[in-house]
Amino acid sequence: MKIAVLPGDGIGTEIVAEALKVLQALDLSLELEHALVGGAAYEAHGHPLPDSTLRLAQAADAVLFGAVGDWKYDRLERSLRPEQAILGLRKHLKLFANLRPAICYQQLVAASSLKPELIAGLDILIIRELTGDIYFGQPRGRRVATDGHFPGAEEAFDTMRYSKPEIERIAHVAFQAARKRQKKVTSVDKANVLETFQFWRDVLTEVHQQYPDVELEHMYVDNAAMQLVRAPKKFDVIVTGNLFGDILSDEAAMLTGSIGMLPSASLNARNQGLFEPSHGSAPDIAGQGVANPLATILSAAMMLRFSLNQPAAAQRIEAAVQAVLAQGLRTADIFSPGSTRVGTREMGDAVVKALRAS
Ligand code: IPM
Ligand code: MG
Repeated sequence: MKIAVLPGDGIGTEIVAEALKVLQALDLSLELEHALVGGAAYEAHGHPLPDSTLRLAQAADAVLFGAVGDWKYDRLERSLRPEQAILGLRKHLKLFANLRPAICYQQLVAASSLKPELIAGLDILIIRELTGDIYFGQPRGRRVATDGHFPGAEEAFDTMRYSKPEIERIAHVAFQAARKRQKKVTSVDKANVLETFQFWRDVLTEVHQQYPDVELEHMYVDNAAMQLVRAPKKFDVIVTGNLFGDILSDEAAMLTGSIGMLPSASLNARNQGLFEPSHGSAPDIAGQGVANPLATILSAAMMLRFSLNQPAAAQRIEAAVQAVLAQGLRTADIFSPGSTRVGTREMGDAVVKALRAS
């Protein structure tokens, strides 16, 4: 089992180190190879996704990814910014299916900004299409407008587009995931305004005929954003496009108390995957040893489950995370009075200890 380890920038290196400790505490023969990515790779090699890093990722069974980005790179031309590394990996590895579970742990109910009764027991799976939509659609760019409200003015444009096979394959991922859960899929679109998402709705409806045992509901994205904070427990699996999924998954993350708890998996058709916390590089707290490593540790568990076919090991990690939460250990982002505040490393050590005890 070959894993490409790409810690990246900011808190990325700190949290990935903890996930590796946890992986190494399992008795598995894992081959780990490290490489630079994001701003760190730009500094060393002049590019956020150097060829050597991409090749390592392509040759691995899975990629364990930290986070990329720092404000200091915001002025670089777009193709050299750290974010291009993650977009490039998604594109080159064809990681079209992004799974972001939003689970509210019983012990963290109080950490959410929502009322406890709204989120206690919450368990949603957001499935975001990850290689299409306005993120990758061509053409895009800047030009002088020849029509519109201000002909002759400078303008910028992007292209929102989806092909039928792109929608079909993510629909299958969603229906199959729902079969293992509460058997309900909410497809989020903007069919009332956008041609692309009327098409999305039509294709979802067509694919649904192959899954009569799963309930399909369609919801406009503005309403979905509202329902997520009004009655989040009504959702089971949410499937949506790249842009809407980006926004809704951050919103869903906050329901659970902290984005510092949320893992994610990005998979291709061969189940090769990239696993990363849903949060970013948090340059404001980097190097302080206070970041929450649990999202990355839980991402490593997803890696074992989805790409390395080690479901039992995945479950052990998840149980160990539950155990440290039950012990009352909390990093700053999930701290509440009465619990014990710990740093990044102590949290990782506690998970390893719980794992060894299991
Ligand atoms: C995410 C992030 C990325 C995205 C950025 C870093 C390019 O926000 O994974 O959700 O927009 O997809
Ligand atoms: Mg995002």
